[in-house]
Amino acid sequence: MENYEDRLITSQYTPEDNDIEVSLRPKELTDYIGQDKAKENLSIYIEAARKRNDTLDHVLLYGPPGLGKTTLAGIIANEMGVNIRITSGPAIEKQGDLAALLTNLSEGDVLFIDEIHRLNRSVEEVLYPAMEDSAIDIIIGKGPSARSIRLDLPHFTLVGATTRAGQLSAPLRDRFGVILRLELYSPEQLASIVKRSAGILGIEIDDDGALEIASRSRGTPRIANRLLKRARDFAEVMADGVITEKTAMDALGRMDIDELGLDAIDRTLLTTMIKNYSGGPVGLDTIAAAIGEEAVTIEDVYEPYLMQLGFLSRTPRGRCVTPEAYRHLGIEYKV
Ligand code: ADE
Repeated sequence: MENYEDRLITSQYTPEDNDIEVSLRPKELTDYIGQDKAKENLSIYIEAARKRNDTLDHVLLYGPPGLGKTTLAGIIANEMGVNIRITSGPAIEKQGDLAALLTNLSEGDVLFIDEIHRLNRSVEEVLYPAMEDSAIDIIIGKGPSARSIRLDLPHFTLVGATTRAGQLSAPLRDRFGVILRLELYSPEQLASIVKRSAGILGIEIDDDGALEIASRSRGTPRIANRLLKRARDFAEVMADGVITEKTAMDALGRMDIDELGLDAIDRTLLTTMIKNYSGGPVGLDTIAAAIGEEAVTIEDVYEPYLMQLGFLSRTPRGRCVTPEAYRHLGIEYKV
């Protein structure tokens, strides 16, 4: 079974993305395409904080992977004129790791914690006074003679990112002053991102070629940028180097990505539900066991796009495949 980490259209971050993502990342809010609601509110909060000469309140970004949460954190730091420190929930193992990070910040800095829902509880407890009072409590000694001293920190902005706000503990979530939800992008927005990226990378692409890649990128810039690179390879070797609608269609077809951006795993998920469970309702854990993926991966990576397409619905009794999905897969729908 192909694993989601190997698939070309995974929205999970892969090391190969690093070089292109960094060079393609917009540095200013005006260059950031889409997410209009989040962007508008954020620009107001940033302007207000700057006018007051204040640090920006803590920001929680949530939404499916690959939508530009790290990019947005970088923009926040840039627009506030401060440095950014980037880390992630699983990377901070002990209270001391976080204390070291916090005490090394400069006044006003942004601390970005990706996958913040994966912080362990004891580390999370260090964050509470840090977020609320810009201080940490350090325990000195052991047993009955242990005492706690409070250490003042510079004021900072915590930008946390998570795939779902509901995964966060309530005390942590409550300490964010700004909570922004990022949504999947429309094909038109993704086409603009593809054209912008092509310009930066020196790739020739026409409008229809960009829209073709955009329509198969499951609403996700990270996937669009990756498919752009692969389409360029095909265009250079099989054609004259220009990505047109035809070369894009050809390239994506060869990568087993269909007109809607579904790959082999998406199709396996849907056909397994149809063949083994009559299209549902079927529980998430049952689907996970049947296709050999983790339930959280299915929930975070596959389902958002399948639900946006209207191919999957969540009901109290489990997941159901919709008649539209049957039609797309060419399977007869029986009631
Ligand atoms: N790269 C990733 N996300 C982007 C966005 N929203 N706008 C422009 N470039 C991006």
